[in-house]
Amino acid sequence: MRYDQTLLRSCGLLQDTVTGSIDLSGTPTPYIYDRTNRMFYVELDNRAPDQLFESFAQLSMFDYLWLGGRRPMLLRTFGERQLIGPEKIVGVETEQLSHTLLYHLFNTHHDMRRAERRLRTLRLALAQSVAASGLEVAPVAAAEDLIRRIVTLLHLLRHGVVEYEGSASRRGAAALIDRLLDSGRSVAEAVVSLCGGESADLLTTPSPSAFTYASLIEWLFGEPPWPECSVPFDERSVRGLLRWLTQEVIAGDRLEAGILEFLHETYLSLPGAISVAEGPSSKVFENQRPNRRTGSYYTPEELAHEIVSTSLAKWLADQADVNVYDPTETESLNSSMRSRALRTLRGVRVLDPSAGAGVFLLAAADWLLRARRFLGDTRPEHTVRREIIESNIYGVDLLSSATNCSALRLRLWLLLGWPPSRPLPNLRLRLATGNSLIGAIRGRSKGHRFESSATPALDWDSVFPEVFSDGDGGFDIIVGNPPYGNITSPVERAVIRRTYPWETYGGREGTWNSASLFLVRSRMLLNDSGHLGLLLPNSILRVRQFSKTRAFLRRQLGLWGVTDVGSPFPHVTLEMVTLFASVRPRVRTETVCIRTRRHDLPQCHPVTRERLDARDIMVLYHDDIFDRVYDAGRTGVLSASRGRDIPATHTRPNRSPGYDVPYAATGRSVSRYGFNESHLSFADDWFESDRLLRESYESRFLVSTKNLPFPRCALKPQGMLHGGGVVRIRVHSPRMNEAAIGLILNSELVRYICMRYLTNYSQLTTCLNTGIMDEIPVAYPDEDSAFQVLFHALQLLYSSNGHAGSVVDSIETIANALVYELYLLDSSVLLDAVTQLGDEVRNHLGLQDVLGALVNEKTMGLAQEIMNNPVVERIRAAPRMGRFR
Ligand SMILES: C[S@@+](CC[C@H](N)C(=O)[O-])C[C@H]1O[C@@H](n2cnc3c(N)ncnc32)[C@H](O)[C@@H]1O
Repeated sequence: MRYDQTLLRSCGLLQDTVTGSIDLSGTPTPYIYDRTNRMFYVELDNRAPDQLFESFAQLSMFDYLWLGGRRPMLLRTFGERQLIGPEKIVGVETEQLSHTLLYHLFNTHHDMRRAERRLRTLRLALAQSVAASGLEVAPVAAAEDLIRRIVTLLHLLRHGVVEYEGSASRRGAAALIDRLLDSGRSVAEAVVSLCGGESADLLTTPSPSAFTYASLIEWLFGEPPWPECSVPFDERSVRGLLRWLTQEVIAGDRLEAGILEFLHETYLSLPGAISVAEGPSSKVFENQRPNRRTGSYYTPEELAHEIVSTSLAKWLADQADVNVYDPTETESLNSSMRSRALRTLRGVRVLDPSAGAGVFLLAAADWLLRARRFLGDTRPEHTVRREIIESNIYGVDLLSSATNCSALRLRLWLLLGWPPSRPLPNLRLRLATGNSLIGAIRGRSKGHRFESSATPALDWDSVFPEVFSDGDGGFDIIVGNPPYGNITSPVERAVIRRTYPWETYGGREGTWNSASLFLVRSRMLLNDSGHLGLLLPNSILRVRQFSKTRAFLRRQLGLWGVTDVGSPFPHVTLEMVTLFASVRPRVRTETVCIRTRRHDLPQCHPVTRERLDARDIMVLYHDDIFDRVYDAGRTGVLSASRGRDIPATHTRPNRSPGYDVPYAATGRSVSRYGFNESHLSFADDWFESDRLLRESYESRFLVSTKNLPFPRCALKPQGMLHGGGVVRIRVHSPRMNEAAIGLILNSELVRYICMRYLTNYSQLTTCLNTGIMDEIPVAYPDEDSAFQVLFHALQLLYSSNGHAGSVVDSIETIANALVYELYLLDSSVLLDAVTQLGDEVRNHLGLQDVLGALVNEKTMGLAQEIMNNPVVERIRAAPRMGRFR
C-alpha cells in the first residue's frame, strides 16, 4: 500500500492546500500544506524526522508532518510530540484515513482500556472497603486520598525506595496491587492500614531519596497556597516521577498522559461521592454515572487542542494580523511583526469556566509555549512556562477536586521544563473553585451583587481583579466543554433571572440547559475583542428548546466556525459540535467555516452567514438542493406530539383475555407503512379513563417513530393505542390527505432533507421528538389520488409477507420518483400517468390489480427517467442514503 499524495488527496487529507518549498540543508524541498488538517506533506526517503521537525517548526505552526515516500511516517507536534512509523500507518485501512484517525494513530487505546479496567476495579474495591471500614471520612475524600497515597506508594515501591513484604520494587508493587484487587477482606485490611497512616509514614521515611520524593509530592499534591519547595532534587528522580505519573501505572501497564484526569473522573464516579448542600446542582451524586448529573464528560486531548489552537490562532490573527498556521503568510513575517504578535500573546487571558481536570488549560499552555517559541521568544523554557501558567491560564470549576487536579497538572507541566536543582517556586496559579454561572462581574450583570452563603457564587471581580480592573475588562478567550443538561438549581435560576442581560430560558423556545447558560455567561465574561470556542451538544443547532439560544448566538456573537465532532466521548453516544465565535468581529465573517469529524462526510465546507441564518435551525450541511426543496414546499404544515404511556400493570406482551387492545408504545413498534407485530403489546380497558388515550383508540391518524433521524410513518387504525415512544403527526391543512402525506414523509427525498438539513446527520435524536417536524418543507400535489393509492398499496404490500420484493421495489421506485418530481422538477409527467392509471383501474378492480396496472413499462420508464436526473442521482448517492426499509 502506498501512502502518497494521490492517496492522501483521495481521503480528503490534502484538500485545502497550498504548496511551497523549504530549504533543507541547502536543498530546496517542495512541500504541500493542508490548512484544514494543519499538516505538512513532504516526500523524502532519506530523512531525520527531528531535524525536519525543527525546520518546519521555524516556517509555520502545524499539527502534523507527513513524510511520504517508500516508508511513510507521521509526526505529531501537539501534546506529547510523537513520531509513528510505517508499521502503524501501513496497518490502517486507507478508506478510513481521516482527520480523526490521524490523531488516533497515536493513541494507545488498547493499553488505556486495560489499565482503565484495572483502575476501575481498584476504585470500586476501595469504595466498598471504605464504606465497610466505618471510617469517619467522606468516602470521596478518603478515596481521593487513598488513590493519591497508592500512587505515591506504588512509585516508591517501584523505585525501591520502600519495600513491601520484604520484596523490593516491581514485585512488591505488583503484590500490593494484587492484594488490593483480591478478596474483600484483604482489600479492607489494606485500606484501613493505608488510611491509618502507614503511607504517611512512608512519605517521611528518612532515606534521602524518599525525602526528596516527599517534598516534591507535597509540592505537587499539597493544598494552596503551595509553599516554595527548597529541597533540591536530582533530575533523574524528577523525570522518573513525571514519566511514571504520566505513563506507567500498574504493574507495567502503560497509560496515556491523561492519567491524572482519569483519576479525577474516577473520584467523581465514587458511590455516594459528593454532596453539595443547597448549592448549584444541589444534588447528592450517588451511585453510578454521577457524571450525568454534573453534565461532566471529559474532553479528549485532541479536541481540546483543536478548540484551543483554533480560537487562539484566530484571536491572534485579529489582534496582530499574523496567521501562524499558514506557511504562505508566515514566510514573510519580519521581526517587528513577530515581536508585536509576541507582545500580544504575552498578555492573553484564556479561561475555561468549567475546567474539570484541566485538559483545555493544558492544551492552551502547550499551545502558547509553542507559539511563543515560533514567534521568537528565546528566554529559558522554565521562565516562559511559568509566565504562561501564572498570567495566561485561568480556570474555574465547581468542584475543588477538579480545581486541585488542574493545579496538579499545571504544576507537572511546569516541571517538564524546570531545571533540576532549582528550588520550585511558590506559584500563583489563576484557578478558583466556585460557580461560574452566578456571581458579580463588574459592569456586566444586571442588578446588585449577588450574596449568598448557600451557593458558592464566584465573585469574578475579587477573584480575578486583574482581569476586570479596567472598563473593557474581561477574558480574551473562553474555551471549554461546559456541563449540559438541566442541572441548575432553583437558587441559581433565580439569580440568573435577575442578573443575566440576555434570556435564553423559558417557554417552548427556551431552555435551562446549562450548555446554553454557559454560552451566555461566556459572552458576559469576555471583553469586546474576545473569542470563544465551546464544545456543546449538537442539539443546540436544531432543537426547538434552543431557539432562543440560537437567536442569542446570531445577535450577540459573531459565529465564524463550527465543527461537527460527532460522538467524541468514549462509551457515550452524546453528539457534539464546537462553536467558534467572537464578541465583535473585526470584520463581519460572511462565510462560516464548517468542519466535520464524522468519518463519511466531506471534512470542510464553507456556508454563508446568510444561509446559516435563513432558518431558525442551523443547517450545517448546506447545498444547492436546499433552496429548491424549501422553495417547493411549505413549513409549519406538520406538527408532532408524543403519545401517552399506559402503566405496565395494564399491559401484557401478548394478547390475552381482558388485554386485547393493540398498543404501539415504542419506536420499534412502527415500521414504514405498518406496525411491527413483535413489538406491539396489549392493553386492558384502563385507557378509557384517559382522554388522550381514548382519542387515540377512537381515531385513525398518521404516526411515526422517534428512533430515527427521519420519519418512518404508518397510519394507526382505529382500535389501536399509541404510547410515548410513538409520535402522532398532525397535518394542519384540511386539503392534505394523511395517506398522501405519509407517502411523502416515507420518501427518500424527505429522508435526505431530515438527515442532512434538519438533524445535521445526528444519529441520536429524531426530527420528531425535537419539534423539527414543522420544519419539514411540505410540497403537495394539486391532484393527490396517485399519492393516496400508492400509500395504501405499500401498506398492503408491507403487511402481507407473501409479496415478491420486486413488486415492492417497483412501487417504491414510483413513489420516490413522484416525490422527486413534485419537489424538484417542473413537470408532472409521472404524476399524470399514475393518476390516469389509478383512475382507470380503481373503480373496477381491487388494490392488487391496481398494483399490476401501475407497474408497467411506461410508468417504470418515466420513474427511471426521474431517477436519472443528475440532482436526483446526487441525492441518492449522498452519504448515508443507502437502502432503507
Ligand atoms: C463536561 S465537564 C468538562 C470538564 C473539562 N472542561 C473537560 O472538557 O474535560 C464539566 C465540568 O464543569 C463543572 N461544573 C458544573 N457546573 C459548574 C458551574 N456552575 N460552575 C463551574 N463549573 C461547573 C463540573 O464539575 C465538571 O468538572
